[in-house]
Amino acid sequence: MKMIVVPEVELASGEKMPRLGMGTYKVVDEENFNNSLQLALDAGYRHFDTAFAYVNQHKIGEFFEKVFQSGQFKRSDIFFTTKVRANFMDSKDHVKNCVELCLKELRLDYIDLCLFHSPFVMEYVSDHQEIVGDPILFVHDKQALVRAWQALEDLVDEGKIRSIGLSNFNSEQITRINNEARKPISCLQVECHLYFQQKKMKAFCESHNIQLIGYAPLGSQGPLGATSLGIATSFSSNAPLQDENVKIMAERYKKTSAQIMLRYQIQRNVLIIPRSTNKQRIFQNVDVFDFELTPDDMAELERMDKIERIFRAGGLKKKNHPEYPYDLEF
Ligand SMILES: NC(=O)c1ccc[n+]([C@@H]2O[C@H](COP(=O)([O-])OP(=O)(O)OC[C@H]3O[C@@H](n4cnc5c(N)ncnc54)[C@H](OP(=O)(O)O)[C@@H]3O)[C@@H](O)[C@H]2O)c1
Repeated sequence: MKMIVVPEVELASGEKMPRLGMGTYKVVDEENFNNSLQLALDAGYRHFDTAFAYVNQHKIGEFFEKVFQSGQFKRSDIFFTTKVRANFMDSKDHVKNCVELCLKELRLDYIDLCLFHSPFVMEYVSDHQEIVGDPILFVHDKQALVRAWQALEDLVDEGKIRSIGLSNFNSEQITRINNEARKPISCLQVECHLYFQQKKMKAFCESHNIQLIGYAPLGSQGPLGATSLGIATSFSSNAPLQDENVKIMAERYKKTSAQIMLRYQIQRNVLIIPRSTNKQRIFQNVDVFDFELTPDDMAELERMDKIERIFRAGGLKKKNHPEYPYDLEF
């Protein structure tokens, strides 16, 4: 199977980032994980998206330490994204502690892109505290997000992070940070797929030079997508991968439905991080740079938006977290 060269985009920070990367959410089985990371490198992936909350960074760190020692790749060949968990966002020191933990687990001396995983800022109790946690820990101070952002800016100054951004924030929260930011918000990572296209958020980000990264670009799916914490739910009817109209379009291009959906995001300038641990699908998902969807097909895919979010963080909505982001339209 061929190795794909993934094109890059320049972020507001001035750093370059691959347009497609490998998601690692909930991938923890060691043997499977090492295999899929190696397959991803063989297929051409140079961006790996992880998070403190995924509890797999130490495995990624071990794997890439060996890769770099072997000389197969240099550190600068690979782009690593990680995310600070919300329970570290109550003070600048805790944000810095979380980033230090990520660096240690990943065995890196800098991170390419560091995001706040979510705006659900809460008081720190312990590194791995339950995130849907106790409302008594919810931080009600509107300036908390701004202070936490300042810690990321300091870490860029210290050379520990190259680019910084947000995930699961709404436009009001982004604006609150942007109004006081010393360094640009380079990226926003949010749910984005055929049935939840984020058209308004995309336009908002474009007007602020923020690069949109779409998570769950295939619609997540399966038992891994729907979590017991109420973070994600299933689609109300079929999932995007089962969409009959996409299947028909895919046959015309001699591609799979997944490739059509990923190509759609690439052509509308949304970066994507599909996850797979299956050899064939790892190669298939990155193989989306040798064809182009016609303007008519782009328009047809655009019309398929159902504005149906599956990552709703229902547990935090129920407990009235003051920064619950999804009550706003975008
Ligand atoms: N910031 C956040 O809050 C947040 C939230 C969710 C996700 N993320 C990030 O975004 C990444 C992607 O999202 P996701 O993992 O939820 O979902 P996804 O990438 O949309 O979907 C992954 C699922 O699709 C299957 N799949 C992959 N390629 C396929 C193909 N070509 N055909 C059919 N099925 C295919 C995978 O199974 P197989 O492994 O069997 O192929 C897996 O079950 C995550 O891994 C994570 O890095 C971030």
